[in-house]
Amino acid sequence: MEITIDRNSRTPIYRQIVDRIHEMITSGALPPGFSLPPERRLADALGVNRTTVLTAYRDLKGTGLIDAHVGRGTIVAEQSSATIERSTDSSPLAWSQLFRDRASRTRDPLIRDLLELTERPDVIVLSAGLPAPEHLPHELLGELTTELVRDIGPALIQYGPTEGLSSLRRSLSRWLLTRGHRTSPADLMILSGSQQGLDLTARVFLDPGDTVVVEAPTYIGALEVFRTARVRLLEVPTDAEGMRTDVLADLLERHRPKLIYTLPTFQNPSGTVMSLERRRHLLELAIRHRVPVLEDDPYGELRYSGEPIPSLKALDRTGHVIHLSTFSKTLMPGLRIGYMIAPRPAMQQFVLAKQTIDLHSNTLGQWILDRILRNDLLEPRLAVLRKVYASRRDALETALAAHRDVDISWKSPAGGFYLWCKLPRSVERTRLVASAASAGVSFLPGWTSFAEEPDENFVRLSFSFADEKQLEEGANRFAIAVQHAASSTRKAVQQETGTPTIV
Ligand SMILES: Cc1ncc(COP(=O)(O)O)c(C=O)c1O
Repeated sequence: MEITIDRNSRTPIYRQIVDRIHEMITSGALPPGFSLPPERRLADALGVNRTTVLTAYRDLKGTGLIDAHVGRGTIVAEQSSATIERSTDSSPLAWSQLFRDRASRTRDPLIRDLLELTERPDVIVLSAGLPAPEHLPHELLGELTTELVRDIGPALIQYGPTEGLSSLRRSLSRWLLTRGHRTSPADLMILSGSQQGLDLTARVFLDPGDTVVVEAPTYIGALEVFRTARVRLLEVPTDAEGMRTDVLADLLERHRPKLIYTLPTFQNPSGTVMSLERRRHLLELAIRHRVPVLEDDPYGELRYSGEPIPSLKALDRTGHVIHLSTFSKTLMPGLRIGYMIAPRPAMQQFVLAKQTIDLHSNTLGQWILDRILRNDLLEPRLAVLRKVYASRRDALETALAAHRDVDISWKSPAGGFYLWCKLPRSVERTRLVASAASAGVSFLPGWTSFAEEPDENFVRLSFSFADEKQLEEGANRFAIAVQHAASSTRKAVQQETGTPTIV
């Protein structure tokens, strides 16, 4: 396999590797099943950093050209476009040649892969932010549907307004008042999940090349949206009080970002809460530099200790904040119902953009949520969930803490779904993914939550989906996987250097 790197080229090195391998696969030079060299070997051969090769392989995996298999390494996919593109006449259409642009061909399939793991009974899922399955209100859903069929009739499944059913927007605006949001129904739009709000924001505001400020770390699903929009991402570090607004102030002076994206409350993945002082400072900066703030808040209701802090939207007196939230974590993710609160001029554009995507969100789901809010069924449910998740968090923390010989540290989150754990840098991340898969536990690798390659080694463990017993077992399996990865990293270093190395 011959790859030449041009260090003077403006094309990033990882992209040069992607392009060359892509070319070799589509020309048939690398046949399906061909084993690509391990990342370290290729990195050494090319004289590049290992993460450069890792990024290139991830890109290629996203296009479906290569597959990574634990135990078999990285191979050219059986159904790679080589097989498709080289064949003639009656051959299937070469779809991969037709996609709009590179960006949409190279999206990372990680979220989809993580969701898929939830169906494997042998794997304890600590990777995905799924609500507790035993507490999903499926019986209530049945009862309400029967009631609604009787009361609403065919309108239950009719088309509806793009902004959302007016009955729901009224009940939601009343409920939001209890959360400190003085929001009229006209400032609200019902979304098909808050993920849609991220996508709409990109569609309405972002042109390729624009700059967006994100926290480091941040939500992987937002990174994917912004990358697809081909914007430049500027990271602001976070600490125990959330986004470092002193650093933000400096960035805003030097760059002219189009948007600031933040998760101030029980951040995904770090679990941190932005202090009130920082929230005020962030708004001050947004006003001074005339930049809109996108506040993503799926976990705000899931606080297990301490007093709530007003959302940025609740503090926003000047209309700089677009607020997203969802009922995915507190009711049922399958309803796909979230919402956006936005200043009127922006809202008009959001509505037009949503209209082209799905016309409106699921009507039945909207009626169900409307009934839940009108019948005051949400509050008692939240009270139960807060207890359930607090005990799950404690169970995971206790089980991890029992492994004193394994170097894992974290700060206990006061809410949300996640434990953000720091591991020694010496635990090589691809080895950890492989040893966790063979131990039967899944986790979210921390590097996926950064716009740039992080200096430190993190993992996100979710405590929402597995029950307490599974969490204990999951923590044990994860601790074993860390030990295993650490010792195999040590062995590899020794083999490569020929000397015993302390790492
Ligand atoms: C920070 C954040 N934003 C948005 C979403 C998407 O949620 P929804 O199901 O409402 O689309 C999630 C889901 O995990 C999330 O964690």
